[in-house]
Amino acid sequence: MLNDIENVLISKDEIESRVAEMGRRITADFRDKDPIFVGVLKGCFIFMADLMRHVDIKCTMDFMAVSSYSGTSSTGAVKITKDLSEDIEGRHVIIVEDILDSGVTLSYLKQYLMVRRPASITIATLMDKPARRKADVHADYSCFEVPDAFVVGYGLDYDEHYRNLPYIGVLRPEVYS
Ligand code: IMP
Ligand code: MG
Repeated sequence: MLNDIENVLISKDEIESRVAEMGRRITADFRDKDPIFVGVLKGCFIFMADLMRHVDIKCTMDFMAVSSYSGTSSTGAVKITKDLSEDIEGRHVIIVEDILDSGVTLSYLKQYLMVRRPASITIATLMDKPARRKADVHADYSCFEVPDAFVVGYGLDYDEHYRNLPYIGVLRPEVYS
């Protein structure tokens, strides 16, 4: 295990089985709806790649990039740095996010996409940290509810590092200082 990690919060095997389960649920719920999965970069990239291999229906994928964080605390401001390339009017949109924390990012994104008149907007997140919620937004699909700790791995970063870890881990406090 990487030296900077204090403990593993969610193992590779646990992630694998919960992500597969979410894929099966989405498959059942969106059959014949031709949904568009919208990944929120960069954090979503590993989760979405794994999730999509368990989604056995006709669908498309697109990506957005937003920035709201620097280090471990939110700046509160959401900025769209990459917009969609596909039209979502009349489509069933499934936003794929790494973690729902304060909810500021997703509530902003939801409103931003709503203007384009999709048929529906659904949120699928790997992790949900409800203790820190500020905005009125909830996850329709979530693999794990996590405590109020800063986690990294499986796509999630601390200052762009640790995204490559195959598990979700908690950083040693020394790493922040
Ligand atoms: P929110 O707007 O506060 O819900 O934050 C959403 C974004 O903040 C997520 O998509 C992550 O990129 C980032 N974030 C929130 N909590 C964590 C964490 O514990 N580890 C790494 N990134 C996090
Ligand atoms: Mg993110």
